Amino acid sequence: MFFKKKRKIAKSELDMNNIPKHIGVIMDGNGRWARRRGLPRRAGHKAGADNLERICDYCNSLGVKALTVYAFSTENWNRPKDEIDALMNLLYNYLLTVEEKFRNRNMKLQISGDVTALTKKIQDAIVHAEQVTSSGDGMILNIALNYGGRAEIVNAAQKAAADAAAGRIAADDIDEAYLGQYMYTSNLPEVDLIIRPSGEKRLSNFLLWQAAYAEFWYSDICWPDFSNDDMKQAILDYQNRDRRFGGVKI
Ligand code: IPE
Ligand code: IPE
Ligand code: MG
Repeated sequence: MFFKKKRKIAKSELDMNNIPKHIGVIMDGNGRWARRRGLPRRAGHKAGADNLERICDYCNSLGVKALTVYAFSTENWNRPKDEIDALMNLLYNYLLTVEEKFRNRNMKLQISGDVTALTKKIQDAIVHAEQVTSSGDGMILNIALNYGGRAEIVNAAQKAAADAAAGRIAADDIDEAYLGQYMYTSNLPEVDLIIRPSGEKRLSNFLLWQAAYAEFWYSDICWPDFSNDDMKQAILDYQNRDRRFGGVKI
């Protein structure tokens, strides 16, 4: 005698009651997208930035609470200076448009990463953009900029160690919740889904702490071509996953 395994029927329409609250996206493949078109890498970054706007609107319309996008890693400083300059310029110009763009959409901007390594001009633009969007109660766009998951954890550990040295907490009492409050994303819901287009299957130092129980979704599409339909497919697949968090479902 055997029991027939109950198969989950794959849905084709989104369950609006099960939209991931927090999605992380590694916006990868800009360079390859450009190379395939005989364009300079910076053209790929521009196309990637334009695509971010489309995906933001789509996620916001679905009711996603937070979208964390990887824009520049702590390792991306290893790139040629002209590419870094192009990325920083793109970022600066984007920051200047945020006030106007986010107002109608009710979105809020957050930057996560070590911004002290950026130019004063960019730092000022970040402060301004975060401030003028701070009352938005729609989706939070969290841009991971000069971000590294290891650096984030080290930073949190240093803060906890300083608290312990100052007698604010006993070292033994430092737990996940305590360390978690020092992560850049402490104000955001748990990351439910991490998406990496472009065919790579690694985290590249993205959201190491937060990825603990996030679902992963990969695709070969380069980020500038990643469409709303691809996002929908990623969310559909997410909705068909069995999230057990270490438990069992009987
Ligand atoms: C991602 O695209 C953007 C950044 C890392 C800033 P890439 O520039 O890494 O594109 P590929 O991986 O070379 O195609
Ligand atoms: C990760 O992509 C960083 C961003 C998308 C901003 P990379 O292109 O830098 O990652 P690797 O080098 O392929 O791991
Ligand atoms: Mg890449």
